[in-house]
Amino acid sequence: MRLTVKAIRDKKKKREKVTVLTAYDFPTARILDEEGVDIVLVGDSVGMVLLGYESTLPVTMREILHHTKAVSRAVRHALVVADMPFGSYGHTEQALRNAGRLIREGGADAVKLEGCVKIQKQIQAIIDAGISVMGHVGMKPQTATLLGGYRVQGKDKAQADAILEEAVMLDRLGAFSIVLECVPAVLADKITRKVKCPTIGIGAGSKTDGQVLVLQDMLGFQSNVRPKFVRRYASLDKEIRKAVSNYREDILSGRFPSKEESY
Ligand code: KIV
Repeated sequence: MRLTVKAIRDKKKKREKVTVLTAYDFPTARILDEEGVDIVLVGDSVGMVLLGYESTLPVTMREILHHTKAVSRAVRHALVVADMPFGSYGHTEQALRNAGRLIREGGADAVKLEGCVKIQKQIQAIIDAGISVMGHVGMKPQTATLLGGYRVQGKDKAQADAILEEAVMLDRLGAFSIVLECVPAVLADKITRKVKCPTIGIGAGSKTDGQVLVLQDMLGFQSNVRPKFVRRYASLDKEIRKAVSNYREDILSGRFPSKEESY
């Protein structure tokens, strides 16, 4: 059985950290699930990581649904959260319809939306419809251009207060957890102590209730992408290059296939 949002919320009470990673396909989602990750997030980062877009903005409902279905087929124990793409929750009716599709057709257990103040009605309607919501404040990639690009948010008091206000509002509306992206560790700590639901940090220091990273970043899949907050647990980029180059050389030199590899 999959984890419930209540189980995720209870982790905060028990002071247990929540572990979150992104996945967009069946085999990696299965590995994450079998390794005991609590939440598998089908992030709209799929646009930049897998689909070659320059930002998350072009990602469509159709694309997120496609990846959410693949992840859902693999996950048995973790909670599956699907990102609502840019333009999919502009008004209440649209937000409800699309959140419903991610749950019903995609097999997700919850949805994630960026922001709160401007989309309060949509979040309220989704929660009222019985769909669990993960919030996302601080650096919000879908509105990064308005925020001055991909940079730390909440360094000055006015910005920090606005981020805190959004987190508190999400908590009151009933979000089951909140992603804090690229905010100073001190602010993340303050928010974490203030809200009842677990906070999940990415570039937000060590005091949040859980952590999330984009899987391909922590696996070193793209050697040119290296934000300060990413810890590399592997260098897959190098490994794949080495394997592909060895394969090619083996074919060219006649070493592959061997007799044993032939019928
Ligand atoms: O899209 C995504 O992968 C995300 C995480 C970085 C939190 O929103």
